[in-house]
Amino acid sequence: MDGLDALKGKYLEGIAGAADEAALEDLRLAALGKKGEISLKMRELGGMDPVLRQSTGAALNVLKDEIDAALRAKKAALGDAALDERLRSEWLDVTLPGRPRRQGTIHPVSQVMAELTAIFADMGFAVAEGPQVESDWYNFDALNIPPEHPARQEHDTFFMNRAEGDNRPPHVLRTHTSPVQIRAMTEQGAPIRVIAPGRVYRMDMDQTHTPMFHQVEGLAIDRDISMANLKWVLEEFCRAFFEVPSVELRFRASHFPFTEPSAEVDIRCSWEGGQLKIGEGVGWLEILGSGMVHPKVLAAAGVDPTEWQGFAFGMGIDRIAMLKYGIPDLRAFFESDLRWLRHYGFAALDMPDLAGGLSR
Ligand code: PHE
Repeated sequence: MDGLDALKGKYLEGIAGAADEAALEDLRLAALGKKGEISLKMRELGGMDPVLRQSTGAALNVLKDEIDAALRAKKAALGDAALDERLRSEWLDVTLPGRPRRQGTIHPVSQVMAELTAIFADMGFAVAEGPQVESDWYNFDALNIPPEHPARQEHDTFFMNRAEGDNRPPHVLRTHTSPVQIRAMTEQGAPIRVIAPGRVYRMDMDQTHTPMFHQVEGLAIDRDISMANLKWVLEEFCRAFFEVPSVELRFRASHFPFTEPSAEVDIRCSWEGGQLKIGEGVGWLEILGSGMVHPKVLAAAGVDPTEWQGFAFGMGIDRIAMLKYGIPDLRAFFESDLRWLRHYGFAALDMPDLAGGLSR
């Protein structure tokens, strides 16, 4: 029996000190495995005399159960310790506020389009669209710019190629958003109130001109709309867009074939200290062309000019984006430089609305 006590001491001590489950398994095999020490002793029982066999057998069974129980207990303890360690190392504070990820931002042009859409929607203007590849009729003729009109040259138009032998006048990349006036009136008739933001194209390239840029067209036709309505809408828009309490606009007499009378509109601003401020100072910056829609334009779109009248305007989106967000060079808008986009871009989840604030 002394031998059994020694075995018991050896295994219980070993189990208590086992560092991990692999060490436990080694101990189990050494004691209880097929060729384990306890198993071998069991096998020896057969050659013993019956009295000794009974007592030794009973003692071996007790020892086997004790070792087995110690193994299980230790295994459970090791498992708990492993779980505790995982819980400690993988701990995560789920109450921490989210970290905004600025992978990818909204381009200032998209941001400004969303801002101005929110402002004009609030004044009852719907959004209209038209194609960027436009027929010369929509881009010019319907807007009272006949083929030999000098305004056609001024527009620095990109012409599309026609197939060989096709002598119809070529399509153009639209030089302004004004053709959407014709499309919207033809489709919806009068009364109508729409804006049409989008891309336009002219063959021009320097610090303030790019071959592709953005305009937003405005059109309001009803029975008694006047220049006074135009003035109010534009002032209200500028105040909301530039987020200043008041703005001052200057209407300068001008000429467009598709409006009569026509006016270009400047906004009061200051350049003091190299910093542009809207609404104060002695400077003026041109931001749009506008006027009362020409009767011939209404007629071209199937709207009776003896019954309906209204205003239209065309504003440079890139221009007002530069003004509002202090962006000095127009060309950078279209260079897709990630550093520029990270600096001037807007967080994707902050879509502008009038209640929450336009530019957060
Ligand atoms: N289409 C003109 C331009 O591109 C702007 C404009 C639009 C002027 C509507 C008057 C009315 O310069």
